Amino acid sequence: MEDKRPQFGNRILENVDEVFKHNAWDNVQWNADQEKAAAEKVELNSTVTFSEDRLKDLEENANKHWDAFYDIHQNRFFKDRHWLFTEFPELAPDFNSAPVRVFPDGESKQSTPDRIKHNDEDAHNSKRYIFEIGCGVGNTIFPILQYSQDPNLFIYGCDFSSKAIEIMKQNELYDTKRCEVFVLDATSSDWQVPFAENSLDIIVLIFVLSAIDPTKMTNVIEHIYKYLRPGGLVVFRDYGRYDLAQLRFKKGRCISDNFYARGDNTMVYFFTQEEISNLFKNVGFVEEQNLIDRRLQVNRGKMLTMYRVWIQAKYRKP
Ligand SMILES: C[S@@+](CC[C@H](N)C(=O)[O-])C[C@H]1O[C@@H](n2cnc3c(N)ncnc32)[C@H](O)[C@@H]1O
Repeated sequence: MEDKRPQFGNRILENVDEVFKHNAWDNVQWNADQEKAAAEKVELNSTVTFSEDRLKDLEENANKHWDAFYDIHQNRFFKDRHWLFTEFPELAPDFNSAPVRVFPDGESKQSTPDRIKHNDEDAHNSKRYIFEIGCGVGNTIFPILQYSQDPNLFIYGCDFSSKAIEIMKQNELYDTKRCEVFVLDATSSDWQVPFAENSLDIIVLIFVLSAIDPTKMTNVIEHIYKYLRPGGLVVFRDYGRYDLAQLRFKKGRCISDNFYARGDNTMVYFFTQEEISNLFKNVGFVEEQNLIDRRLQVNRGKMLTMYRVWIQAKYRKP
């Protein structure tokens, strides 16, 4: 039967004169000059000038800096989740109103939600567990709870900011029969969690791995592997190399290659597709998707163009 749902990801800019006709364009190709200019810009801001003490503070008090962030922004900051079920239909397989993702030619396609839901013979009769790492104040968990009708779905979430967890628990949508969130530093060597090893169906990493020191990322992925069930899936979306946010950093904010401290002392890394691939595959995951989402956002009022770069990926535990 023909799929009548709206499509997403296929607004391609063919004539540059038309750039200000829409708010955003998909799958924007970068030419060699643009790539070179971005690399030069990054080179300019990549000298590390932080003192040892400042670097130590950024690392040791990372959770406190996020506490301060949530103290200021409460639950108003990370709002926009229109893409969640388009990019990751696995998160609410029974929610069929999200636009259908159209992929550029040659990109790997997304896995079939049904494979996750009905992976085992009786999977659809048993509980399904999702765990989000770095859940913040619930901008991913609450939409899933709202859209999923599945009575067998249970969602766990963790964040190392106790402030974020406190704000999330105060939300009227926080329903202890359907979810549980707790404080956990995902980089710790021993996770204290309310679920068993090999038990989770999906682990969600949305703009969280980028907040973690690159030298600690493998440890996080190893824990993820341990707690996913065989056949379980990781869904990942995060900043890509040369995203506008990276190019906007001024000199003096760099911590190590492609890793920066923002003005509020929260940290952010910018990935290549290959780095993500290696991180997961080296731990034993099988790659199901790894694509670069290059979007041109347009501010038509100010006649500004903004080149965004995100990496989106899915990895399965065999
Ligand atoms: C950019 S925010 C994204 C929040 C949420 N995933 C979203 O998309 O709305 C990054 C989140 O990761 C959390 N975080 C950073 N490092 C963490 C760590 N080591 N363990 C657990 N959470 C962490 C921060 O407190 C923050 O809530």
